[in-house]
Order: sequence, then C-alpha cells, then structure tokens
Amino acid sequence: MDKKKLLDDLVKGYRENHKKSEAIFSKASQYLITGGSHNLRLFSPFPFYDIQSSGSRVWDADGNIYVDFWQGHFANVLGHNPKVIIKALQDSFRKSQGLTTGFPGDHQRELAELILKQIKADKIRFTTSGTLATMYAIMLAKAFTRRELVMKVGGGWHGAHPYALRGITAYDHGLTRMESAGLPSGTDAMIVMTRFNDIQDIEDKFREHGERTACFILEPFIGAGGFIFSHKQYLQRARELTQQYGSLLIFDEVVSGFRFHAGGVQSLYGIIPDLTVLGKAIGGGMPVSAVIGKEDVMALCGPEAPPDVKVKFEGGTFSAHPAAMLAGLTYLKYLMEHESEIYPRIGQLGAKVRKGIEEIFAAHGFNVKCTGYGDSIAEHSSLVGVQFLKERIDRISFPEQVWNPEVCDFELREKIFKLSMLEEGFNIFHGYGAVSSAHTESEIQASLDAVERIAKKWSNY
Ligand SMILES: Cc1ncc(COP(=O)(O)O)c(C=O)c1O
Repeated sequence: MDKKKLLDDLVKGYRENHKKSEAIFSKASQYLITGGSHNLRLFSPFPFYDIQSSGSRVWDADGNIYVDFWQGHFANVLGHNPKVIIKALQDSFRKSQGLTTGFPGDHQRELAELILKQIKADKIRFTTSGTLATMYAIMLAKAFTRRELVMKVGGGWHGAHPYALRGITAYDHGLTRMESAGLPSGTDAMIVMTRFNDIQDIEDKFREHGERTACFILEPFIGAGGFIFSHKQYLQRARELTQQYGSLLIFDEVVSGFRFHAGGVQSLYGIIPDLTVLGKAIGGGMPVSAVIGKEDVMALCGPEAPPDVKVKFEGGTFSAHPAAMLAGLTYLKYLMEHESEIYPRIGQLGAKVRKGIEEIFAAHGFNVKCTGYGDSIAEHSSLVGVQFLKERIDRISFPEQVWNPEVCDFELREKIFKLSMLEEGFNIFHGYGAVSSAHTESEIQASLDAVERIAKKWSNY
C-alpha cells in the first residue's frame, strides 16, 4: 500500500470539504498555540470546528455531518447534549440558578449521596477535572502514609500533574520515560513504574519499594493506554500487596466510572480500593470530578486535620459548581433508572463493532485487532480501540504493545484511518471510540459498511 499517496489524497479531499474550518483554524492559530487548547483535539491537517452536536451527530462549520464516536472524550454515555440535561439546565437558569455563587448547594449533597450509593465508600469531595482529582488523591495517600513513592503503570494516564507524567505514551523499550519538562527535580525518582496486568512485576516492585510506597494508582480499565480491562487476579494481587505493605490502592475510574454499568469497574470485580477518582461521565457534560474513599484518609483534607498531614485539597472557585452538580445529578439518575436498557445495548453494539472491524480488515488482508473487549465480569463494553498491527498478535493485552511503533502502526490509525472515516462521515478516536445510547443500530452498521469500503479502497493503493 502506498501510504504516502493515500494520505496525500485524503488530506486533499479533507481540505476541499473543510474550507471554513481551515479559515477558522488559521485565525485561531494567531492567538492560540496550534489553534486550540487541547492537543488531542487538533488532529492533522487541522480539526473541523463543530457548530452543533446532538445525540450521535456533529455538524461542522462547512455543513458536514458526522456520526461521532469521540463523544466528548468518551464522557457522553447518552450522546451529545441529551435533552434530559438541557431541560434540567434550562429550568434551573430560568429560576436564576446555575452560575457560580460561592454558596454550597443541595445538589452536591444529592450527587454525593447517589455516587456513594453506587460505589461503596465513606466520603467524597468534588473538584473540576480528572487531573486535579488524581493529584489530590495521590497527595492524600502520601500524607496518610507519610511516604514518598507513587507507583503507576506504563500507559496509565491520570492527567498532567507531576506525580503522573512518567510512562504514558513515549515508548522506549517500555513505557517509563518522564514525559514533561518543568517538573520539580527528583520527580522521576518518586514515580515507580510497573507493567499493567503483570502480577510478577507488581510483586517485584513491591518487594523492592513497598515499604516506601504511598500508593499504587491504576485504571482498572486502562483508557489512553489502549482500552484494556485489567484481569481480576491482577487487581486482587494489587489489593493484597498494597495492604501487605501499608500502601493505598487508588483506582482511577475517570474513564470507566458509569461507562460499563451505573457504577465503577471495582464493584463488578468486587475489589474495593482505598481511594477512587471519578470524572468524565459524572458531570453529565459539565466539568465535575471527585475523589471518594475511606473516612480516615478523606478526613485529611478537612479543616480539623492535624497540620503535619493536612492536604490542601480544599479550594477551587468552581468546585461543585451549581450547574455542573445539577447536570451530574440528572445524568446519573437517568443512567441508574435506565441501566438495564442502556448498558447491555451499547455493550452489544460495541461487541458488534469489534468483531465486524476485525473480520472486515482480515478479509482484505490487513492485520487489525480491536481492544475494549469485556469479559464475563465486565460484559457491557461500549469502548472500541482499533490497532493496526505490524506483527501477528492474537490479543492486545498491554499498553506496551499499543505504543510500541514496531508493534502498532500509529500513523495508519491516527492519520489515514481517521481521515478515511471522516471522508465517510464518521468521527473516530483511538481507531473508533465510544458507542453511546444515542447511536442507532443502523448508524453502527453504516460505520462497518464504511470500514468495508475503506479496506477495499486501501487494497487498491
Ligand atoms: C483515566 C484518566 N484519568 C484522568 C484523566 C484526566 O482527566 P481530565 O482530562 O478531566 O483532567 C483522564 C483524561 O482523559 C483519564 O482518562
């Protein structure tokens, strides 16, 4: 396949159909670094600018319509701008409620109560981003244990703060590199890297560093690391080792919370961490995140905590923002009330896509594997990753495979497949993305028909 020619043709076609977006991008680049505020949204040659999003669809500035599987960084389980949230917000704004006031509202109590009913823990505190919440969770663990080291897995993305910027996507015989400048000196030595789903490796790392480890933070379903569920035995071993060494176990459920059922992956696996971080879906489209956990740990951010272990997780002008609390509350109530319809349905559609994409590409001679597969414990997986493989592998099991350029062809996925699917009217991410309850059977089938045409077309290049 002549990849260069294919990409050139796709870029040419994209430019022709996105003239207004190109003009907006060029203007935006005069003021914003590379034209925007989040690098992942700025795909090459330039992003399309959305003017309206509803349900499964996005309308762009040039009048193109896409069926969207990016769905707000995978936060939108109900699709874009669901009516139930829009109505709740409109009603609230009509009553002079919604914008920030600086007073605590009762919706935050209701949302807190509801989350703690669905994910068992003693206490919760809200903040505004997954990044802040994982940072605070780690600070709580460090203060509680009075220890220095933070253990994380290669491929784990917990947002951009010093405790989490090692071993994310930069492959170098593994995922262990520091990936940002501007960090306090010694940060790399403070972060112990281990491999996701590798029991032997956590046993080794705890044997070596356990006595000094404040916490082990991981995503029980790894998101940016490749849409892979952790094995139950691995999580169990992580729970045992953290207990044995007196470290805290932190589950980052920013992606997985309320994505596979109306709760966390931890409840499906029956493994309870000391702290859990939530984000994305719990805000119903608004910026909400939370740390939840055991009373004695969470108490360290309260005003009565002893000064030497007090954690400054206490501010945030927009923490528990009124409109965001209302949106989150309305959203989670809806997900709980419709749990038995929503999750099995989007899980089945996810399974259909994974199977369909692998079969289509195989029939055309391409070596493609999907990720996002659930198992008998987490059976309703609506997330689909697509990996174009350079070597034969039956199943992708580690982020180290996803990010190794000798194993997976990142350019084929992120540039060529992305633009090919856009040309067909589908916006994808990580090779496909998230099925929401707003997607119809026929849209899912149409996306597979598009993949079929693309595979055929590629075979002729
Ligand atoms: C697992 C996980 N944790 C934390 C974060 C950071 O959340 P935010 O982007 O809200 O800061 C993300 C973001 O994608 C994530 O996927």
